[in-house]
Amino acid sequence: MSAENAIPAPENPAATDELIRFDNVTKRFGKNTVLDNLCFSVKPGKHVTLIGPSGSGKTTILRLLMTLMKPEEGTIHVNGQQLYPTQGEKQLREIRKNIGMVFQQFNLFPNMTVLRNITEAPVRVLGLSKDEAEQRARDLLDLVGLGDRCDAKPTQLSGGQQQRVAIARALAMRPQVLLLDEVTSALDPELVAGVLDVLRDIARTTDITMLCVTHEMNFARDISDDVLMFDSGRVIESGPPEKIFGDPEHERTREFLGAVL
Ligand SMILES: Nc1ncnc2c1ncn2[C@@H]1O[C@H](COP(=O)(O)OP(=O)(O)O)[C@@H](O)[C@H]1O
Ligand SMILES: [Mg+2]
Repeated sequence: MSAENAIPAPENPAATDELIRFDNVTKRFGKNTVLDNLCFSVKPGKHVTLIGPSGSGKTTILRLLMTLMKPEEGTIHVNGQQLYPTQGEKQLREIRKNIGMVFQQFNLFPNMTVLRNITEAPVRVLGLSKDEAEQRARDLLDLVGLGDRCDAKPTQLSGGQQQRVAIARALAMRPQVLLLDEVTSALDPELVAGVLDVLRDIARTTDITMLCVTHEMNFARDISDDVLMFDSGRVIESGPPEKIFGDPEHERTREFLGAVL
């Protein structure tokens, strides 16, 4: 996590052991500086949680990685490849294939079955055969506890079930990184635990890298290797969950945790 010096030589970017790396990233909307010279990195297989008040720039970080917006300044590398400043649409698309995201609103295709929601991108983007994609989708639906709902439409499922389908859909692309943006915030309280259990399982049993925005502090404590506390577009404090939740350095972190815990 530390921003320690290991800046990869540009001619040999693959030499880095960091899967995600932000160097001095600044993002503005008009006069509003949302990310301010942000530096952080994530090593492969690690689970890193972003916490901090609303409006501190957490979603913006994930949206940059999803290539839904670009920074005004700074560089972003994914797996040693330069995402920004961009080196062209083709490379953006290649890098983007390594990244899966689950949103607060599940965004399933309403007119497709659960199975089809999951097979669509692997067939269209990765070129899997229909059979291969369906096998992969069934395995993932088993993993998220919905092996018997292949033929359902999203509207026939609870919010928690829909979110578990969305997780399966993201994993079907076999991304190296899974981005999770407050994935339980839109759910009825009684459905939250089931989704978090699935994510705990994935964190424990796979080597996927996770970058996770959440207000579920017990979950964050369970799955995180590192927690980054954001305020006003900067990381004001970072460290293992025991430290951040147990003995935070910053008054701002203490205030924030006091309010959400
Ligand atoms: N598309 C946008 N246009 C203008 N301002 C935006 C846009 N997206 C986010 N912002 C602003 O950027 C700031 C950070 O937002 P966001 O990254 O969503 O914060 P968080 O996820 O931590 O709540 C907020 O002040 C928000 O209003
Ligand atoms: Mg957000």
